[in-house]
Amino acid sequence: MAGPAVVVAVDGPVAAGKGTLARRLAGHFGLAYLDTGTLYRAVGLKLLIQGADPEDPALALAAARAIGAGDLSAPALRDEATGMAASKIAAMPQVRAALLDYQRRFAAAPPAGGRGAVLDGRDIGTIVCPHAQAKLFVTARPEVRAHRRYRELVARSRAAGTAGAQVSEAEVLADLLLRDAGDRERIVAPLTPAADAYLLDTSDLDIEGAFAAARAFVESKL
Ligand code: CDP
Repeated sequence: MAGPAVVVAVDGPVAAGKGTLARRLAGHFGLAYLDTGTLYRAVGLKLLIQGADPEDPALALAAARAIGAGDLSAPALRDEATGMAASKIAAMPQVRAALLDYQRRFAAAPPAGGRGAVLDGRDIGTIVCPHAQAKLFVTARPEVRAHRRYRELVARSRAAGTAGAQVSEAEVLADLLLRDAGDRERIVAPLTPAADAYLLDTSDLDIEGAFAAARAFVESKL
């Protein structure tokens, strides 16, 4: 019988580069990949589309329970406004509980019968998969993260044929600091490195440098 699934947890604050790193680790080690932030963003976006208040716990819970695979690919998931709404609903314990099963099931039984999974988020190493074989906590200075996110927003809106980013870099930095504070200070599943996480500061690393460090760490754990 196959052993338990391999799990790699990648946590960190807004725009730390978790997604890029997690996706590359998944490709390299032949693991499935789940961006758990998309689940929270999908709940936030559902409420925004309904014109509902993202601070309303009953509506947020109903939206979280209704999330399905079809909700996880809308381009608007990546909008700044969606990220802000996601951060609000992510502080609600019932919403987190409603999304927990999906994440744990993915980790325990990755799609396509893979031997394991990489999950990225805020609480993967602490709450969702505390027994993950390898845990990374990825961070970078706020200005560096804001610059990266701004460039990403500009590139995305150019690709969509619109003029440029809908927000300024200064606004991106302000949103990022607000969202980080909310994620760190919330009572349930706050953003914090697991005691056994490898801390990776990517401020002065390019993607290749960050990937090389992360790969070496994961190799040492598997
Ligand atoms: O990509 P970015 O770093 O901007 O954020 P994300 O990973 O897409 O997550 C969006 C929001 O969802 C975060 O600000 C958190 O409030 C929430 N989130 C969470 O609480 N727990 C997770 N495991 C993943 C995301």
